[in-house]
Amino acid sequence: MKLLILALITLCSIRIGECVRIVLEENIADKCDYSKCPTEINDGHKLYVHLVPHTHDDVGWLKTVDQYYYGTKQSIQKASVQDILDTVIDELIRNKQRQFEFINGGWSMPDEATTHYQSLIDQSTWGLRRLNDTFGHCGRPTVTWQIDPFGHSRELASLYAQMGYDALYFAREDYQDRYYRQFNQTLEHVWQGSDDLGKRADIFTGMMQMGYGPPKGLNWDLVGGENDHIVDNIDSKEYNVPQIVKQFRQLAKEYSQYYATNHIMFPMGTDFNYQSAHQWFQNMDKLINAINSDPKFNDIQAIYSTPSCYTKALYDSNHTWPTKRDDYFPYASDPHAFWTGYYTSRPSLKRMERVGNNWLQVCKQLDSFALNNGQYDSNITRLREAMGILQHHDAVAGTEKQHVANDYARILHEAIVECQQIISLSLNNIAKSLGQQFHSKPDELQFCNDLNISSCSITESGHSFLVSIYNPLIHPLSNHTVRLPVNERFFYQVFDDKGQSIPAVLIPIPEWIREIPGRPQRPNSNVEIVFKINHLEALGLVTYTIRSSSQFTKRSARLIKGKPIESNGIKLFGRNFDLFFDENGKPRKIMSQYGSNEFRNAIRYYEGSIGDNQLQTNRSSGAYIFRPIEQTTNAYGEIVESIAYIDNDYGLVQEIHQKYEDNVFGQIIRLTGDSEFVEFDFVVGPISVWDNIGKEIVLQYQIDQDNEGRFKTDANGRQLLSRKWNYRPTWPVIIEEHIAGNYYPVDSRILLDNPDGPSIAVLTDRSEGGTSPYSGMIELMVHRRLLHDDGFGVDEALNEPGVDGHGLVIRGRHRLLLFKDGQPDSSYHRPLSQQFFMEPIMIFAKLNKQRHHHYHHTKSMAMIMNKFSMLRTSTSLPPQIHLLTLEQWSYDRLLLRLENIYQQGEPNSKKVRVNLRNLFTTFTITHVEEMTLSANQPINVIDKRLQFNYQSSDDNQFYYRPPSSTANNTSMDIELGPMEIRTFLIKISKPQRQL
Ligand SMILES: *[C@@H]1O[C@H](CO)[C@@H](O)[C@H](O)[C@H]1NC(C)=O
Ligand SMILES: *[C@@H]1O[C@H](CO)[C@@H](O)[C@H](O)[C@H]1NC(C)=O
Ligand SMILES: [Zn+2]
Repeated sequence: MKLLILALITLCSIRIGECVRIVLEENIADKCDYSKCPTEINDGHKLYVHLVPHTHDDVGWLKTVDQYYYGTKQSIQKASVQDILDTVIDELIRNKQRQFEFINGGWSMPDEATTHYQSLIDQSTWGLRRLNDTFGHCGRPTVTWQIDPFGHSRELASLYAQMGYDALYFAREDYQDRYYRQFNQTLEHVWQGSDDLGKRADIFTGMMQMGYGPPKGLNWDLVGGENDHIVDNIDSKEYNVPQIVKQFRQLAKEYSQYYATNHIMFPMGTDFNYQSAHQWFQNMDKLINAINSDPKFNDIQAIYSTPSCYTKALYDSNHTWPTKRDDYFPYASDPHAFWTGYYTSRPSLKRMERVGNNWLQVCKQLDSFALNNGQYDSNITRLREAMGILQHHDAVAGTEKQHVANDYARILHEAIVECQQIISLSLNNIAKSLGQQFHSKPDELQFCNDLNISSCSITESGHSFLVSIYNPLIHPLSNHTVRLPVNERFFYQVFDDKGQSIPAVLIPIPEWIREIPGRPQRPNSNVEIVFKINHLEALGLVTYTIRSSSQFTKRSARLIKGKPIESNGIKLFGRNFDLFFDENGKPRKIMSQYGSNEFRNAIRYYEGSIGDNQLQTNRSSGAYIFRPIEQTTNAYGEIVESIAYIDNDYGLVQEIHQKYEDNVFGQIIRLTGDSEFVEFDFVVGPISVWDNIGKEIVLQYQIDQDNEGRFKTDANGRQLLSRKWNYRPTWPVIIEEHIAGNYYPVDSRILLDNPDGPSIAVLTDRSEGGTSPYSGMIELMVHRRLLHDDGFGVDEALNEPGVDGHGLVIRGRHRLLLFKDGQPDSSYHRPLSQQFFMEPIMIFAKLNKQRHHHYHHTKSMAMIMNKFSMLRTSTSLPPQIHLLTLEQWSYDRLLLRLENIYQQGEPNSKKVRVNLRNLFTTFTITHVEEMTLSANQPINVIDKRLQFNYQSSDDNQFYYRPPSSTANNTSMDIELGPMEIRTFLIKISKPQRQL
């Protein structure tokens, strides 16, 4: 299914590429830049109304992607995208004034709160690339719009600017913010997207005052367009031109009060409009004719336009625009409707989306290192496109119907499995090119996709096995802990890459993990083996051997015995701090170089409001909306058992297993001597709703420090934004829903902003909503189960059944860091966050019987292609550098993105240099061409974006790059400033074999 984007003026799919090409060629082929736009619209005394016909076609929401495309399940929603494509194209061919252009052009119109920058960049890159391949330079969108997403991210604005877009439009923003902006005519402004990147990250931004649907009285869609058609036959009893003209003139005048120039844009269309395009276009033809030929007035002119032509008209107006530097979260549509629930809705899909990205990046990297030259591209593309679909604002956002969420999971799962096969093939090809052998043939390699619930058939079988671990980061990892479920009837010994036996322990899997619904109940798979890899090379692979035996030997991993916690509590030792627990197994104190601090960790819940959504005050909590009944939380059960597992021999394990009443919650709290964070590994669910009340579960972490309501959250996993309780930086907010109105998206981390004294940060494994409701507290919502719909269209309660129908159970991880003085010690939250986001992946192979009996053989097999790094070992990179993208682009080129992960003002923040030529082991880079962030144009076009007039409140204006680093293809020495991402198309040659 190749449905490309919705965010087109008219829709396009690759499937009907031919038709669209005809339209492009016949209508506008010679003019696809701004010269195609209407001219003579510069009379300062006239109001120009730009009519922008559009259809907003969600890539899944109430129906699945394919149900929407083909028009099945019409009883759910009458929507068929293929009909839209066909009928629109016919209509465009009929009349050349009907403008056509692609807009946005990503694979989907992404959500902005719950998405990660890596996948946002990937999905734009992929969509724009397909447009370029299919339509050439006329297929390149110059503006983007995000008309439906529920709040807007500053980081995404910055990314869009760096992709070369001239403008960004949207239609949803906080009702109070909109009120002030209408009043002050600042709905249109320049959004400054970054504190680090200067004008390069600034983008002209416009907010549609009335939403993205058609103006009142002017909806002529076949489905849901209830307004009378225009009758221009003056002899007919139905003649209605005067009323329509009057209505239009009124709307236009009212609307134009809110805007600063004499141009306004009317979106003519809405969700799944234009299934019968003639109806819309015929009425608009008549409307335009009626308005422009009315002899009484010539102060208003209506024109067929597009967002890019509208942008050009604003640019030509020479207005000086106001600026904005904060973001558009959270979004409230009325005083009781804060769209902050979806930051957490469908937590398991949100996690799966991150896992999908992890596999996609590994798949693309290994395919590149293997020099497969694109032979597996269609397999990888399956996952590229699945991830593109998942970014959609009703996919990872969690605001779709249940059957649609199930379908997203199916699409993603099938694509992950396909990419795993390419990983197997690539590893074998890399080995072959080294004149070696990978330890197993591709078809013998296995992947364990259930390790999130401590399940894996190969490791639990009782056989000996090999595990290869690949680190997708461009920096080595030390002390990486591996944890695998094994069969407790056997004894195990672990051998490292050199064949040396290394320390390992066994630890019981708590019953609340073993009983997660859907976890295969294999006999005796009740324990996990734990061992540590001291050093995992950058972009490196190692293979360890786990030998099973029915005999216990001196070196067999020993089972750690759990001990109930005694009356004086217990202490776990970490690298940066120690954690004290009381006699009930609750953490109570952190001791560090910053002294001793009380610490509390709790699981609590809010009760979701119930109402019929008819009045604002009757709003229910639902898939979009978070609206607790009370502004306080309730206890979610008590700890009934706390057991300490401490490995005194090797220091591999120090953990407390907390079991709660009725198994609704269980948590492992881990800290080891060399870890820089405490890990909270939790299981939540099924959320009980016996009292007919939906519940929204939060985890709280609190220290005894006053942060005065200040905290920071990340935008899409990248820049940090400052938040303050009951405060918005650009307008005097009044918040009636105190908790929901202070929730913000947390994509990767949340930090207390405590100016003096110790502070904490929590890293998350997926997107969640979070805030700081009390002094010293971080609160993160991890799961929600609600029994009522919130009235915004999904028409289904967010009541995920889980695999057994009794309610979804989720497992997740938080990592808690401690730092000092409001100055987040980014030297560790930045890299730790990348490590959490882009975890090493594991590939398994059974050891066959013969090898099993001959230890030497085992050893040598494991050593083949072992301890291999794709990064040249002489290349030690500055810690600021992150490898964001490496993938095959065309048969002779690869796409490479490097990034500086530090933000201004952070301890490690500085400009760094890298030489590209000899970065990698399997190839040498011979030629580079720097591209825009989305890789669809050379970098120098960035300087040719429309330059709107505005007063930049920014000293750091490196908009223009020195020519040497843009056009010069031979320079391999590149610099990366704070928060800078640089994108290159590279040519490579195979190096002399040298390892
Ligand atoms: C609107 O403009 C007025 C007058 O210029 C200014 O004082 C006020 O701060 C502005 N309000 C907002 C919310 O931008
Ligand atoms: C865009 O498409 C053209 C024509 O197919 C191709 O030559 C060019 O390399 C493409 N651009 C990029 C950046 O891939
Ligand atoms: Zn939508």
